[in-house]
Amino acid sequence: MTDHNTSASDASRPALAPELIEQFSLAGRIAVITGAAGGIGRQAAITFAQAGADVVIADVGVEGLRGTAELVAAVGGSATVVPTDVSNRDSVEALAAAALDAHGRIDVWANVAGIIRYAPITEVTPDDLAAIVGVNQFGTYWGLAAAARIMAADPGKRGGSIINITSAGGDMPAPTLSVYAMTKAAVAHLTRCAAVEFGPSGIRVNAVAPGFTDTPMVQRNWTRADGSIDEEARARFMGMRAAQSPLGTTAEPEDQSLAMLYLASDASKFVTGQILRPNGGVYMA
Ligand SMILES: NC(=O)c1ccc[n+]([C@@H]2O[C@H](COP(=O)([O-])OP(=O)(O)OC[C@H]3O[C@@H](n4cnc5c(N)ncnc54)[C@H](O)[C@@H]3O)[C@@H](O)[C@H]2O)c1
Repeated sequence: MTDHNTSASDASRPALAPELIEQFSLAGRIAVITGAAGGIGRQAAITFAQAGADVVIADVGVEGLRGTAELVAAVGGSATVVPTDVSNRDSVEALAAAALDAHGRIDVWANVAGIIRYAPITEVTPDDLAAIVGVNQFGTYWGLAAAARIMAADPGKRGGSIINITSAGGDMPAPTLSVYAMTKAAVAHLTRCAAVEFGPSGIRVNAVAPGFTDTPMVQRNWTRADGSIDEEARARFMGMRAAQSPLGTTAEPEDQSLAMLYLASDASKFVTGQILRPNGGVYMA
């Protein structure tokens, strides 16, 4: 009987050479991460630093950024803190210039900053629409453009990796989330457009579409106005989300940052224009 799982070449397949495993390393790389004051962006900054990158961290939350810089230092990394409002193009350009000033190049740029607001379509206000589109869509767009311009002009022609963050919400319609979902679906398609446009310059553009991940963004669902935690609401919420996954779990920020590390590193050198979905199987494209 033929063993279909083991071809002749499989039987003698050697261990990966150390230099292949090293492709997950970011040693010597410069990585810009927006939305890095907390949640997934903070975890990405720590993970990238642990993988060897010098990180440039940006957010509107300056206190949070300082906290992230301390956590990066605690794993032996170095972080440059650049307060940034990603919805403002000038602010994003200033972030890119600060990264270039500090390090002379940018290898990885992760557009993580995002906001969410819940409202039925008939009650969304112009302010809601402008704010969510402003951060999630414009913010990603300006970051992508600034990063690609710098990477394409690199005299060493090293290319680079740009990572956008979309959402399972961009794949699956849900009531009261129309604006957020719309922006995330737009970012997914922007990712594909940019991959086509920048591929010839050696720049890869991919997205991570997280499923439900325990961060400040979702913790608001069980945090009372006085800042205390409603444990019952937390258990109910987490239980409901976990039940949607074939794995029966929700995600931690590191589940997202490790997916981002793969896309940031040379391990994914043949991957571009893709949406990677660490979502516990809640949605299968
Ligand atoms: N947590 C989840 O379940 C989940 C699921 C899918 C997608 N996401 C996406 O992941 C990304 C990170 O979310 P998170 O869960 O870590 O949320 P979070 O709220 O913990 O982090 C988002 C960060 O973005 C920052 N930010 C907001 N507006 C900004 C602006 N104008 N300029 C710069 N920074 C700004 C916030 O200050 C915050 O630090 C977001 O894009 C979010 O939409 C999260």
